[in-house]
Amino acid sequence: MTPVIAYSGLVLLLVFVGVALRKRPRAHIPIMLTAFALDLGSVVYLQLARNAVGKTASSPSTLLLVHVTVATATILLYAAMTATGWRLAATGRGRAAHRTLARIFLVCRIATWVTSFFTTPA
Ligand code: HEM
Repeated sequence: MTPVIAYSGLVLLLVFVGVALRKRPRAHIPIMLTAFALDLGSVVYLQLARNAVGKTASSPSTLLLVHVTVATATILLYAAMTATGWRLAATGRGRAAHRTLARIFLVCRIATWVTSFFTTPA
């Protein structure tokens, strides 16, 4: 396991902790925003240090394409979770949307981590 995959696994554990604390907004919200920031950090790192976008553009494997798709969806869903979560916190409305997006988010975030094992050359 590379250091970046280990880091990403720890962020995924943080997401699980945040979901477990979903009924306590004062813990849930900062944990989820921290996970978002930490995941954005690895995107920036992978681009600057490894030219991730450039490598994907030149002859990507199917698994790499799947990985990039679920990873991109994850980042977009973080933004959607923040928007719906903010609305839920401020108005008490949109709980069903936040919950439905959370399920899709978790599938994408877990799939991103699992497929990351197949994207790193040995
Ligand atoms: C990827 C990030 C996130 C995930 C996976 C997630 C997931 C969830 C889930 C599953 C619930 C329970 C919904 C239900 O009642 O069935 C919840 C509740 C909630 N979330 Fe999030 N959330 C995320 C981010 C955020 C963010 C960024 C905010 C605020 C800006 C937020 C605010 C809330 C609030 C206010 C509740 C209701 C808490 C209560 O019951 O009092 N969430 N979240």
